[in-house]
Amino acid sequence: RAIVEIAPAAPAQAAPGPAPTLARMFSFDTVIIGAGAAGLFCAAQAGQRGLKVLLIDHADKVAEKIRISGGGRCNFTNRDLDASAPHKHFVSQNPQFCRSALSRYTPQDFIALVQKHGIAFHEKHKGQLFADRSAEDIIAMLLAECALGQVERWQPCSVKNIAFLASGADGMSASSYQIDTDRGPVQARSVVVATGGLSIPKIGASDLGYRLAQQFGIPLVERRPGLVPLTFDGAAWAPYAQLAGLALPVQISTGAKKTRMAFDEDLLFTHRGLSGPAVLQISSYWQDGAPLSIHLAPGVDWPAVLAQAKARSRKLIANELAQWVPSRLADAWAGQDADWQRPIAEASDKALARLAERLARWEITPTGTEGYKKAEVTLGGIDTRALSSQTMEARQQPGLYFIGEVVDVTGWLGGYNFQWAWASAAACAQAL
Ligand code: FDA
Repeated sequence: RAIVEIAPAAPAQAAPGPAPTLARMFSFDTVIIGAGAAGLFCAAQAGQRGLKVLLIDHADKVAEKIRISGGGRCNFTNRDLDASAPHKHFVSQNPQFCRSALSRYTPQDFIALVQKHGIAFHEKHKGQLFADRSAEDIIAMLLAECALGQVERWQPCSVKNIAFLASGADGMSASSYQIDTDRGPVQARSVVVATGGLSIPKIGASDLGYRLAQQFGIPLVERRPGLVPLTFDGAAWAPYAQLAGLALPVQISTGAKKTRMAFDEDLLFTHRGLSGPAVLQISSYWQDGAPLSIHLAPGVDWPAVLAQAKARSRKLIANELAQWVPSRLADAWAGQDADWQRPIAEASDKALARLAERLARWEITPTGTEGYKKAEVTLGGIDTRALSSQTMEARQQPGLYFIGEVVDVTGWLGGYNFQWAWASAAACAQAL
């Protein structure tokens, strides 16, 4: 590796103490900050193109989020991704931005890499692919790819400052950036920011990427937690708190008619609110103060089912409901209204109509989310209008790139976020 030795500028007055030592200035083609999914993949690809790559991460271990993803098995991509219609599976202020990268590096490309490394995988649900054994296999694969590209990795290592050196101003080389780290200064032609989002701070999330954007005048889209459990007011939630731990398939929706989003997935009751895939998905579309509408037992025509039961059954309403939904939920539902705590044959049509409405359109308004502590992703981030969709380079700042979750592109649950990390990294690596 090219190592340039430069002497620090002489102080105006010699400071007492030991003679100043020579500062070692390392030089690379590119410095990538963040050794997560996007950073590792970009480093491997750029290295294999023959570039001298330095990958820096402030955490002790690489790719902590891959390690904990998919329940430890990493849902590494999704076969159903349709790059020609990215708005179907991605949330962004500029939904077409991710189209170019996603169509040039596809789920099939990543699957081929996983197969090349002999990693066994399976499809679980709706196109979601998981490693059979462990997420560690995906991490080992990315590290092996980095080794092939002779990527140098400094970890743990903190970045203190990044300065853009105007072309030729240093009179030394073509390097454009100086990155000050706690292992010394580094020069590089380009800097790739792959620092991810704000979720799960205890495993290394930081706002460095957003601060760097601000430093270089690159606009940000407001950030908020996504794919996150939703919480409710304590008193309003009290009747449902007894259902904690219960899961069932529902249809959940939010938004006004034109922008309405709906998901058919499992819902999970928790002590503080709602979670499970249905709620994580809808949380990325939920706006503060807006209600959620939940159909308990989608596909069941509740008015018809209750009318038929009234005509033929002498059972309690709760027992009838238990044929369609878990019995704990049936009991809790019938317990909400005195008119529903009786044999169904004795219930008035009006009371049954009210019950059918509450089962098919349970409307509740969350008070908030569980926040970045529990969120899988961060919505918002680097405004894509400031980036090239071909290369991920900042339009006004040559040599500065943003990839992965730090960018305002957020995927659905189900492997879409990793596919964005791989695809944006590949697009960037081609351009470095
Ligand atoms: P990522 O977060 O992977 O990496 C960022 C890296 O930057 C980290 O290594 C961090 O330490 C480093 N960094 C941050 N600040 C720094 C600083 N100041 N200096 C130096 N380094 C710094 N997605 C999916 O598709 N399938 C799944 O199964 C799951 N499962 C899942 C589970 C859980 C619990 C979470 C929290 C998230 C998921 N995700 C997921 C989302 C997925 O993990 C996420 O979108 C990607 O990891 C994003 O990749 P990035 O490389 O952009 O960030």
